[in-house]
Amino acid sequence: MTTVTLITGSTMGSAEYVAEHVAEILENAGFTTDVQHGPEADDVPQQDSTWLIVTSTHGAGDLPENIQPFADALREQQPDLSSVRYGAIGIGSSEYDTFCGAVRTLDALLTSLGAKKIGQSLEIDIQKHEIPEDPAEIWIEEWKNLL
Ligand SMILES: Cc1cc2nc3c(=O)[nH]c(=O)nc-3n(C[C@H](O)[C@H](O)[C@H](O)COP(=O)(O)O)c2cc1C
Repeated sequence: MTTVTLITGSTMGSAEYVAEHVAEILENAGFTTDVQHGPEADDVPQQDSTWLIVTSTHGAGDLPENIQPFADALREQQPDLSSVRYGAIGIGSSEYDTFCGAVRTLDALLTSLGAKKIGQSLEIDIQKHEIPEDPAEIWIEEWKNLL
């Protein structure tokens, strides 16, 4: 059975709650999950693995501080991620011009390293969804069927 490694970037915890919620849905569907909040790149399996990025955006389109080292390490090390499949959930606010900038940055980075994207990214706008878990629940139901 597929193991999904959930990689979160968050400042106040919203993205972490979303990741834990979708991990529970994946577990109930029979997947194994490994939720890593702001992991080191070396702690994330990079061969034949499935990742789900769940990150908010801070500053002006920036990555949350706890996921920045992960992105920096990938940029520096340039690993071959061609056997990695990934999905992406962003959380942001449409008050900002740089809406969901962080998830877009990570999406582009993973693609540039050869990782294969599964489905389309979900970009949750907290102006429209007071409870970000709600749209994530709908999205994960479809995404898991693509795995
Ligand atoms: C100082 C600050 C800067 C932000 N900048 C952005 C931004 O550039 N783009 C965006 O889409 N959301 C931005 N947001 C909104 C956050 O992404 C949103 O509040 C999110 O729910 C935070 O989730 P977290 O608790 O997981 O970090 C910003 C929020 C704050 C407080």
